[in-house]
Amino acid sequence: MLPFLYFVLLLTVSSFGFSLAEKPQLSNKTFPKNFSFGATTSAYQIEGAWNLDGKSQSVWDNATHRIPGIIKDLSNADIACDSYLKYKEDVALLKALGVQHYRFSLAWTRILPTGFADEVNEIGVNHYKNLIRELKNNQIQPMVTLYHQDLPQVLMDRGGTLNPLFPKWFEDYARVCFESFGDDVKHWFTINEPYIDCTVGFISGGLREGIDNYICAKHHLMAHAAAWHLYDNEFRARQGGKIALVLNSDWMEPASHSAEDVTAAATRMQFIWGWFGHPIYYGDWPDIMKTRIAMRSKLEGFNESRLPELTQEEIAYIKGTNDFFAVNTYTTTIVQAIEEPEISSPSLDKDIGVNAYQCSDCIASPSMSWLKFVPWGTRKLLKWFKDEYFNPDILITENGWADGTGQLDDDVRENYIKEYLSNIRDAMEKDGVKVIGYTLWSLLDNFEWASGFTAKFGTIQVDFSSPNRTRTRKKSSFYYERVCRTHCLVGTCEE
Ligand SMILES: *[C@@H]1O[C@H](CO)[C@@H](O)[C@H](O)[C@H]1NC(C)=O
Ligand SMILES: *[C@@H]1O[C@H](CO)[C@@H](O)[C@H](O)[C@H]1NC(C)=O
Ligand SMILES: *[C@@H]1O[C@H](CO)[C@@H](O)[C@H](O)[C@H]1NC(C)=O
Ligand SMILES: *[C@@H]1O[C@H](CO)[C@@H](O)[C@H](O)[C@H]1NC(C)=O
Ligand SMILES: *[C@@H]1O[C@H](CO)[C@@H](O)[C@H](O)[C@H]1NC(C)=O
Repeated sequence: MLPFLYFVLLLTVSSFGFSLAEKPQLSNKTFPKNFSFGATTSAYQIEGAWNLDGKSQSVWDNATHRIPGIIKDLSNADIACDSYLKYKEDVALLKALGVQHYRFSLAWTRILPTGFADEVNEIGVNHYKNLIRELKNNQIQPMVTLYHQDLPQVLMDRGGTLNPLFPKWFEDYARVCFESFGDDVKHWFTINEPYIDCTVGFISGGLREGIDNYICAKHHLMAHAAAWHLYDNEFRARQGGKIALVLNSDWMEPASHSAEDVTAAATRMQFIWGWFGHPIYYGDWPDIMKTRIAMRSKLEGFNESRLPELTQEEIAYIKGTNDFFAVNTYTTTIVQAIEEPEISSPSLDKDIGVNAYQCSDCIASPSMSWLKFVPWGTRKLLKWFKDEYFNPDILITENGWADGTGQLDDDVRENYIKEYLSNIRDAMEKDGVKVIGYTLWSLLDNFEWASGFTAKFGTIQVDFSSPNRTRTRKKSSFYYERVCRTHCLVGTCEE
């Protein structure tokens, strides 16, 4: 999930009605046999054992200890769900849910404590080998993210993702992972949510807004492409897997049918999804980004665009490096056209130049201000991917609901899963979108970045006040289990 504040301009006046009055009918089509249902987590959010067995500090270990008050409830993830030690318990729960896959991330700091590939920490490698073996023994496919927000602090000390060597560091790390785990992993993810990593995540101490975001993005794309080419050239033939970048955001719904609002929503789609998606599928930044950032940079007094130009070699290197389209999505944002923002200091928001806000009369998550229950947005989003990116295979790598209590009686989460999946099934059936799997965020209540333990996304409750970190299944997990086992959302389905 998303670390830190998710920038959202709050709604003052809603110009569009989003009524809950009409309950859409749930799809009664069986999901295909080979459609994969799963659950997901990430290393820093669940593992704990932050300084055990040779692991070094990630930027999150460092910041939570160094900066008092950075986390809402003053917590950290030193122990979190204690999953490093309790991984067998987690796999038993996945087995009970009946999932076909488990998506988790590797802690770079556990595998390469120096950040570099000179010293491989065998204890760290063996931990993940054990986890993967446990999954396979239970017929659960491992799907593995290389990097999910937890950059080694030692690399941050060298400029982190702003250092042009970042792609090389990442490639070296990826090689160790492909060599160590690749025989058992058929789905790899390079980087989780580059958009978040390059905006509200940690970039470096001296981040310059509207400049470093774009440099970070270029380095992320080059790092992703480096890992893809490495896999393609040296591992694919032998290991037979697939590899993709995990993009995230919302569906952007125009605030009205006016041409201006429709254009504003399309612009925001390109600035967020297209920022990474366009270079991968077309080779270069979206035209609207090139035009707007060049225009504003000039007026701001820069002698060239703040958006770094990609060379022909870089364009060719990045293009075509997604074996499938991996998506984290939770909600819908409403977008309205505004006057051109005034020229002052550079900013990504002003480069986009629209008003974006959340639906005011949708069910709101009690713990995450950006999260509204808008299931129909997902169907529109999937159709957009089909049209924009040449009808790719789509794997939903995250989707889920947060409350603030972690209560076992979690009807809203159950309805969220049901209605989102129904819209996904409709996108497949009625719009011909090739969705190949769905992954629920999250298996467990866990450390939700800046929200600490105040936001609960788990379909399984974790008692953070007990040293045992006792896991208890919530009501939604029984519904999700039925879906995983029957591939059907309602009582009776048809093919
Ligand atoms: C799933 O099966 C369908 C029908 O046999 C096939 O067209 C599709 O390519 C398969 N998808 C995957 C991801 O294997
Ligand atoms: C955070 O990282 C810096 C740089 O590596 C290090 O000097 C410092 O001791 C770390 N802080 C904490 C609290 O661990
Ligand atoms: C813009 O200025 C920078 C230094 O301030 C320089 O490196 C760069 O070459 C200049 N670009 C152009 C297009 O003149
Ligand atoms: C923790 O688990 C142990 C072993 O199952 C049990 O004996 C103990 O009572 C548990 N403690 C708490 C606080 O739940
Ligand atoms: C599925 O839904 C359609 C449309 O509502 C209905 O005609 C059909 O009978 C349903 N099939 C089953 C097996 O319930």
